[in-house]
Amino acid sequence: MATAAAILSLYLLFIFEGEVQQLLGNLMGSGASHDTIRVFYLILLSILGYVLVRALNALIFGLAFRLRRGFEAPTLVRNIFSILAFTLLFFLVFSRLYPNVNLGALFTTSAIFGVILGLALQDTLGNFFAGISLQADRPFQVGDVITVGAQRHTGVVEEITWRAIKLRTFQNHIVLINNSTAAKEAIEVGPRGNLNARVVFFNTLYTDSPAKTIHVVREAVREADNVSIKIPPIVRIRNLGDNGVEYEVKYWLEDYAKYNDTDALVRQRIWYAFRRAGLNFAYPTRTLLVERRTHPGVRDGAGGAIIERLSAVDIFAPLSAEETAMLAGAAVSHVFAPGETVIHAGDPGSSMFVVHNGRVCVQVSENGRPRTIATLGEGDFFGEMALFTGEPRTAHVVALEETEVLEIKHAAMKRIFDTNPDLVESLSHIISERRQGLIAPAETSTRGTDASAGILSAIKRFFGLS
Ligand code: CMP
Repeated sequence: MATAAAILSLYLLFIFEGEVQQLLGNLMGSGASHDTIRVFYLILLSILGYVLVRALNALIFGLAFRLRRGFEAPTLVRNIFSILAFTLLFFLVFSRLYPNVNLGALFTTSAIFGVILGLALQDTLGNFFAGISLQADRPFQVGDVITVGAQRHTGVVEEITWRAIKLRTFQNHIVLINNSTAAKEAIEVGPRGNLNARVVFFNTLYTDSPAKTIHVVREAVREADNVSIKIPPIVRIRNLGDNGVEYEVKYWLEDYAKYNDTDALVRQRIWYAFRRAGLNFAYPTRTLLVERRTHPGVRDGAGGAIIERLSAVDIFAPLSAEETAMLAGAAVSHVFAPGETVIHAGDPGSSMFVVHNGRVCVQVSENGRPRTIATLGEGDFFGEMALFTGEPRTAHVVALEETEVLEIKHAAMKRIFDTNPDLVESLSHIISERRQGLIAPAETSTRGTDASAGILSAIKRFFGLS
């Protein structure tokens, strides 16, 4: 509206120049000279020209840009437009008011002056043209977080003017970086609309389980404010260091400009999550560990839990309390990470395992692909087939999560069999049933009892039982 009004007024001023000047003369009284009237006419034209350029600027680079691109045009572009528009208006008005003055000649004669001015304004012009090339390239926009140059100035871009980039640092300071300097330096950009990532580091003691640590930290970080829910955080071990296991957590931010606060919040959440989960930060210390071991693999204080676990295993139900305690004393504990293989099919094996904590799956290969035939949890056992028959392992057993198993070796089982001959029979039934599960459904036969009898005699032979 303002633009249209300004254009119309300027047009009318040009068309009715004589009438307007006469009107001005009347207004100023009879004493006003012709030159004074022309000066007032010029002032009127200038005011209207100024309003027109401002209005056009707002219309094109404010409104139209926002509608088409979603943001206002940079200050530099607006300034260039204004300079060009004012120059054009100046030529128009000047040639209208002083048609006899040759502007071309005037500019030619001032060429030497122009060279002198150019040399004097070398830096300023350098900044100006670097600013234009930055605008053309558009490597970043207002609102992006950038890090510039060797001094690594980091902040949010507030403005790009014809002279400099204006950054607001995270200390709320303003840093001005000359366009020509920025054009020469490497610029790291965290675009505003992009999911930018950050990495935070922490260390744990070697005694803390990596699977548990990774799970606890991932859950703690994903719930922190400003952490994007679009990509789950990644927690991984980056080094087995002198002072503990070194981890990094990588997370993506909704608003990258707040990364300092979010890093701090993430560290805080990790601290509380560690506290709740009983995990420990490692710091540069040297610890002298004095360990009294009752039996390799069985940790102090864990003996009771192992006896409890073994007495709940159905095949060991007939054992006396002393026999279960003896078995627990002979058991060796092993911890496996999620996805680790506990038993490889085809390997020889002389021990069986009881799942103490966690879960495993039993897999056979079918057409080169693994097929899960059973999932075993706490209190279940596996590996008994090779142990009792002396044959190679029949299947792969893989940990599904962090899993602690208790290994029982041939010698310990032999002692148990000597005093519990009936145990062999119940085991032979279990082994027979499991063997049926190993065969693909189409091949399943009904020879259950025959197979069980065969296994029974195989176990007796292998363990030298009568
Ligand atoms: P072993 O053959 O020593 O090693 C692989 C183990 O997988 C095997 O002993 C059993 O303990 C276990 N296994 C094999 N088949 C089955 C099944 N059908 N169900 C449960 N466990 C099984």
